Amino acid sequence: MGKLQVGILISGRGSNMAALVEAARDPAFPAEIRCVLSNRPDAGGLDFARERGIPAVTVDHKAHASKAEFEAAVTDALIARGVDFVCLAGFMRIVSPAFIERWHDRLINIHPSLLPAYRGLHTHERALADGVKLTGCTVHFVRPEMDVGPIVAQAAVPVVAGDTPDSLAARVLTAEHRLYPLALRLIAEGKAKVVGESVEIASDAVDETARLFSAA
Ligand code: GRF
Repeated sequence: MGKLQVGILISGRGSNMAALVEAARDPAFPAEIRCVLSNRPDAGGLDFARERGIPAVTVDHKAHASKAEFEAAVTDALIARGVDFVCLAGFMRIVSPAFIERWHDRLINIHPSLLPAYRGLHTHERALADGVKLTGCTVHFVRPEMDVGPIVAQAAVPVVAGDTPDSLAARVLTAEHRLYPLALRLIAEGKAKVVGESVEIASDAVDETARLFSAA
């Protein structure tokens, strides 16, 4: 079985993208990063990709008359680089149902909460305001409703005394950098599959996902 050919969509610093790129440098990793695409020309992550010899592409949403045209240009750029699977990694444009349909079950996202809790923005502020003791991050397949979709993997992260939104975000981000490569690997190995509207994990991979409960 050939490697999964992956495109990563970013809008900013791209630390999750960097984690995926680093993981994919291992020849045993079952996915290849074909390109990094940003909707913002100034996204910091583009330089990181270029420095590692990965095609770094800008498709500026402001240069397109409509969302449909912008997304068509994104899909064209991905296809031109041989991409057959897409990872959203801090991509700050809401993708349309048409784009999601085009990449159905070939489009995943990482979100900084334990979904279905804290969909949307400001997840860490809201978790702290609620006084939850455990939060985390989720990798899920994308569906038209925001931050909803079959869950591939989650990592739980403790909230500790004195946490601020920034300190909690930093702790969760460390877990994100472990979770995203693991989730992509499980999908690329065929060990995480969408069945109905949830993801089935192969029995020999369950241990690996369970280890993430101690990510801190
Ligand atoms: C991450 O917290 C991710 O969960 C969210 O956006 C942030 C992106 O950070 N979707 P980075 O650009 O990957 O550093």
